[in-house]
Amino acid sequence: MSKSFYVTTPIFYVNDAPHIGHAYTEVAADVLTRWHAQRGEGSYLLTGTDEHGEKVLRTALGNNTDPKSWTDKLVTESWLPLLQTIDIDNQDFIRTTEERHKSAVQKFLQQLYDTGFIYQGSFQGNYCVGCEEYKNEGDLIDGSGDYVGERVCAIHSKPVEKLNETNYFFKLSEFQDKLLAHYEANPTFIQPDSARNEVVSFVRSGLSDLSISRSKERFDWGIDIPWDDSHITYVWFDALLNYVTAAGWADDPEKFATLWPADIQVVGKDILRFHAVIWPAMLMAAGLQPPKQVFGHGWLLVGGEKMSKSKLTGIAPNQITDQFGSDAFRYYFMKAIGFGSDGSFSWEDLNARYHAELANGFGNLASRTIAMVNRYFDGVVPAASSLTEADQQVVAVAKAAVSGAETAIDKVQIHEAIAKSWTLVDELNNYITVQEPWVLAKDETKRDRLATVLNTALQGISTLSVLFAPVMPKATKKLYAAICPGQDLAAVKIQLAADWNLVSTGTKLGELEVLFPRVEE
Ligand code: MSP
Repeated sequence: MSKSFYVTTPIFYVNDAPHIGHAYTEVAADVLTRWHAQRGEGSYLLTGTDEHGEKVLRTALGNNTDPKSWTDKLVTESWLPLLQTIDIDNQDFIRTTEERHKSAVQKFLQQLYDTGFIYQGSFQGNYCVGCEEYKNEGDLIDGSGDYVGERVCAIHSKPVEKLNETNYFFKLSEFQDKLLAHYEANPTFIQPDSARNEVVSFVRSGLSDLSISRSKERFDWGIDIPWDDSHITYVWFDALLNYVTAAGWADDPEKFATLWPADIQVVGKDILRFHAVIWPAMLMAAGLQPPKQVFGHGWLLVGGEKMSKSKLTGIAPNQITDQFGSDAFRYYFMKAIGFGSDGSFSWEDLNARYHAELANGFGNLASRTIAMVNRYFDGVVPAASSLTEADQQVVAVAKAAVSGAETAIDKVQIHEAIAKSWTLVDELNNYITVQEPWVLAKDETKRDRLATVLNTALQGISTLSVLFAPVMPKATKKLYAAICPGQDLAAVKIQLAADWNLVSTGTKLGELEVLFPRVEE
């Protein structure tokens, strides 16, 4: 079996229900996966939930329940339904409480212990339960409000806890040179470049060994350390391994060979260091290849701060999809925010872009073109005669849109891929305005010209259906079914989207419902 393009999302803490920041990561990973599928490559998306650790445990206890019941309920009622809400086509969903994961984590730990990468030691530090991470002094800021006079975590604005522990350590410090050499030899391993630079200077400043176990005297919601049942595994060590445990590392070498190394691991920038420093070091220790790329995207901000449920700034994804639909959700976040940069969400901006770009720009282009074919040619695709310069120009823009979008996706510039595709929406709208098919229709001698214009517009719209399929799967499926009835959009390779042969002359067009109905305020 050949290698699939393997994409992962972070696995999400189930201490609360998802907000649009989580959905943002999911959508980006899904668009990349679908894009590669549309190229005709095998592609595979893994997502899931991170269920162990103190943060989840405390939330469960705070809700008067045990962590297993809590996570079962939240996964079933909130996290799995999220995938439907935003139309994610994942091939697997891993929960870290599953047996397949727990046994593989233990196998991995035992291997590192046996090969001398894990030792027992003691440690004192400032722990942030929100991040599930020991913090350096430099990661802390002065508290405000209830926490005036205390040092607090810069991300969670909550005090850290002083912990003094004897536990097991991973020899992360041994990997400093190997990691730097890997970054050097693989310049796109960490993207975007700003993220890469930050990680490189962090690693250059020196790495400490990493505490990877917790004494059960403190809490025991985690995976047992295989050689010492008085300790459980540190939640991040457990969680990072999901990317290989789900891929069959422990028990399915054939499957593993088709997936690993992952082609792109999409993460928020807050968790980049775990993925670009600790994770490749763990893999190197086990003799496995690091992923090909770790991409740290920006944050959705509210009032200049990272949107979060704990700060009560989270918006539930279905608040948006109930009104605008999943395609608009996906389109909006992928187009409006440069992938890799922070961005602010606003209802006004969403509403304005939905109506201007989706309803009037793209949706209306499709519906009026089909309406004209219905009116002037009884709904049957007319044949094009020789193409004029204006028609050739549309073809050229379509070809440039496809190649530009493809190049952008290879650089993981999702917003740019959409912008390049959009040049064809603008071109087609302009083309129709200039060609005035409604004027041509009044003159019987211009029948051939009318046919050519509408054929050209339909071919262009078919190109758009393919280009936008990874971003707006539902609308493009409906549109393609109307202009290419009986044809399978999934089977059209994106590279061939502008070959100008998708819409067949003589075909009776299907019905098209309004793709992006107006939303009343
Ligand atoms: N459980 C860890 C990840 C372990 S991966 C081996 C975790 N979970 S999380 O639920 O807190 O966050 C998961 C992802 O959601 C992160 O990539 C994070 O950046 C993303 N987001 C959470 N809030 C976000 C925004 N406000 N904006 C964009 N992404 C956000 O970290």
